Amino acid sequence: MVKARITGTGSYAPKRILSNRDLEKMIDTSDEWITERTGIKERRIAADGETTSDMAAKAGKRAIEMAGIEPDEIDTIIVATVTPDMDFPSTACFVQHKIKAHKAASFDIAAACSGFIYALSVGDSLIRSGNSRYVLVIGSEIFSRITDWTDRNTCVLFGDGAGAVVLGKATGHKGIISTHIHSEGSSWKLLCASSHEENAKTFIRMQGNEVFKVAVRALEEVAIEALEQSGLTGGDIDWFIPHQANERIIQATAKRLNVPMEKIYMNLQSYGNTSAASIPLALDEAVRSGKIKDGNLILLDAFGGGFTWASALVRW
Ligand code: UT7
Repeated sequence: MVKARITGTGSYAPKRILSNRDLEKMIDTSDEWITERTGIKERRIAADGETTSDMAAKAGKRAIEMAGIEPDEIDTIIVATVTPDMDFPSTACFVQHKIKAHKAASFDIAAACSGFIYALSVGDSLIRSGNSRYVLVIGSEIFSRITDWTDRNTCVLFGDGAGAVVLGKATGHKGIISTHIHSEGSSWKLLCASSHEENAKTFIRMQGNEVFKVAVRALEEVAIEALEQSGLTGGDIDWFIPHQANERIIQATAKRLNVPMEKIYMNLQSYGNTSAASIPLALDEAVRSGKIKDGNLILLDAFGGGFTWASALVRW
């Protein structure tokens, strides 16, 4: 049976760093509070004029280079984002133009923090069906532009960045074993981006406490769904790469799955929550640092606004 395999990874984060100490000067917060409650120490902020597609294109180019292919070999580009450059065209169309992927079909997926795994799931299907030979899957977000910088409940959490993977055909046992995607729209008010009044600016709104509880439960359930389908347990995982929202959420989920701390890849201390970019950004770091080895079993796990939640099992 044909499978899809990740043949290259790439990422990009804007240069500007906003630390917890910087935030102390802007709002009533402290480095201690943010570190204890979230694990985040700093986040990156896109430059004026820098766009979601600029960042996506940079991450995408790096993934294409690692895959050892040319941009015009890409058949499909999928960008997961809820902070697109424009309402339309899609951010993926801008990426297609910027990286000169002349043949590629391009579209976006909006599933908030689960967006990358949703996009991976679609890309996986395109490869397995024979519809595409190479798919570029990107998560890219500029949350700093939908952040209310006067709201301490949310503004300490988010950051900007992009991550990407190239999918190609798998040979042998390596590749994407399965993907699992879910949604439940009834609780949308607990986590959304909208304007308070007509014609007002759009800002993230979140009831953090409520989201926290649902997130841990959903992350556990969808991870177990992936493991059970393949007759595996948390003990079989070599690397757990969850959505990087909050260190306490990650620890609670890992504990429920019996995955030890040393098998969790975490980089939220440096980037905060970058929504759809968080998993591919972490995956690229883990790959490039040599942590992920041939044959490793990797579990990706995400939860976000919608609510949406998703997992993927990958044999490297
Ligand atoms: O990516 C999509 C999914 N998103 C998530 O998974 C986020 C889920 N939620 C969380 O990560 C956590 O709920 C937060 C980090 C957002 C908040 O942590 P918490 O432990 O749930 O704190 P809380 O909201 O219950 O607030 C506790 C206290 C409150 O003060 P009182 O009412 O106890 O006096 C807040 O006003 O902390 C206060 N607080 C802050 N204090 C200093 C809230 N934000 C801050 C802040 N600095 N930035």
